[in-house]
Amino acid sequence: MSEKSFLLAYYSSSGNTKALAQNIHQIVGGEIFEIKPQKPYSKSFLSILLRSGLDLVTGNKTPLPSTTDISKYDVIFVGYPLWISNTPSPINTFLSDHNFAGKTVIPFCTTGGGKAGKSFGNVQKLAKGATVLDGLQVRAGNIAASKEAIEKWLIKVGIK
Ligand SMILES: Cc1cc2nc3c(=O)[nH]c(=O)nc-3n(C[C@H](O)[C@H](O)[C@H](O)COP(=O)(O)O)c2cc1C
Repeated sequence: MSEKSFLLAYYSSSGNTKALAQNIHQIVGGEIFEIKPQKPYSKSFLSILLRSGLDLVTGNKTPLPSTTDISKYDVIFVGYPLWISNTPSPINTFLSDHNFAGKTVIPFCTTGGGKAGKSFGNVQKLAKGATVLDGLQVRAGNIAASKEAIEKWLIKVGIK
């Protein structure tokens, strides 16, 4: 797959997913793009919980002012922090606002130790028309030492 073009798009509220995205980027190269909500989320767990819970109940989509042209890429890595066992709202907007038909999407996330399976299912649901490969989840405390896990995962999904 080495001749394919890669985009690493990620959302990070407190920096963990950003650090993991940078580790992955060092290995796969390609373009890196930070997804930023129009109104940043506060760093407080409770206020994020309240805001994202409200978004969920009201069906409100988190607006993203800047975006990227994904049509140029074959493989799109999508990174995020696990929120309430699922994808965070900025990622939901990113996935539902772009055309993923014919793309390969590979999710990765950082967690506090919970299971990310449901969030990977949500990526599959929202990235319509994409082939979604196995995701990587890394516990926040393990990001600095994640190189080996990243390498193994990239081999498993056929990128290396
Ligand atoms: C609102 C909120 C909900 C969270 N829910 C979960 C969860 O369900 N399971 C889990 O393992 N970690 C959970 N976490 C922890 C984050 O996934 C973890 O700290 C992540 O590394 C943060 O990434 P970031 O620094 O890129 O924002 C939650 C954090 C927040 C703020």
